[in-house]
Amino acid sequence: MKTYEIGNGALEIPRIGLGCMRINGLSRGDARALIETAMDRGMNFFDHADIYGGGEAESFFAEAIGMNPSVRDRMILQSKCGIRPGVAFDFSREWILSSVDGSLARLKTDYLDLLLLHRPDALMDPAEVAEAFDRLASSGKVRHFGVSNQNPFQMELLRKYVGADRLLVNQLQFSLMSCGMVDAGLNVNMTVDAGIVRDGSVLDWCRLNDVRIQAWSPFQFGFFGGAFVGNAKFPEVNAALDGLGAKYGASATAIAIAWILRHPAGIQPIVGTTNRARLAEVCEADRIELTREEWYRLYMAGGKVLP
Ligand SMILES: NC(=O)c1ccc[n+]([C@@H]2O[C@H](COP(=O)([O-])OP(=O)(O)OC[C@H]3O[C@@H](n4cnc5c(N)ncnc54)[C@H](OP(=O)(O)O)[C@@H]3O)[C@@H](O)[C@H]2O)c1
Repeated sequence: MKTYEIGNGALEIPRIGLGCMRINGLSRGDARALIETAMDRGMNFFDHADIYGGGEAESFFAEAIGMNPSVRDRMILQSKCGIRPGVAFDFSREWILSSVDGSLARLKTDYLDLLLLHRPDALMDPAEVAEAFDRLASSGKVRHFGVSNQNPFQMELLRKYVGADRLLVNQLQFSLMSCGMVDAGLNVNMTVDAGIVRDGSVLDWCRLNDVRIQAWSPFQFGFFGGAFVGNAKFPEVNAALDGLGAKYGASATAIAIAWILRHPAGIQPIVGTTNRARLAEVCEADRIELTREEWYRLYMAGGKVLP
């Protein structure tokens, strides 16, 4: 699988990552087969969070694959913290540090390649986050940092304290059917809903600042509305996906990922399938480069308005 660099070459990551939010719905054997399918295809990037699977997904993942130093060396492990069950959000130094210790123990590893702050905390003290990041970096527990679901000013505020080059990633919801970041950029100055900027122009900001965008829920519409691929609610999108699938000898699932990969920002989709046949289809997207005409045809099939 082709790769992206992040942090000025500090880390090389595959263009597509596997999200592990749903993994503990599998049997241990099926989870192992899923992880091996990903690794065999060069998709050695695994996205976790302390809260996935009610806090069980990380340990289930490590047990399923039989985590040991030689397996660990072949993986890039990312986890997230900051959503605190029973409270809401918590970016305090203590919570960040204890959350990372929990993830390391569950994943049976000494370090995370990447730690992301999961969702903004209204009570964040950025100086405390900086202290936590410094402690995690100097102890070797976390190699690189990023955020998720943050807008440019939130990132600027954090960067003032943690350092301008410290935030390498922003993980955001993005799919063919959930692409407000693109809609707003195409409808600047228009009095239509699609022109409403809900994210502070985060797509352009990340490109300007070399922050790699990861796309969570690349097959979902709405907020966990379900998959749009193969969904009868979206006949035009599916007809367009199927048509291009026939052209490229790939499934509609692969074309939906190729649509994300075609964006020149170099977005890394984080797919959440638990089905290894589907995962193999997803990897086919890596060899497909949609044309400009095809990219816009898919976009318009989603019922989009253009000025
Ligand atoms: N940062 C955040 O706030 C945030 C939020 C949500 C998720 N995430 C991350 O993003 C990852 C992906 O999220 P997600 O699981 O919601 O994303 P997704 O990849 O869009 O959805 C996967 C789900 O859709 C189902 N599905 C049905 N038809 C499908 C098709 N044709 N192609 C692909 N999937 C199909 C899959 O079922 P099968 O398993 O049967 O294939 C699976 O349940 C998560 O694992 C997590 O790591 C991050």
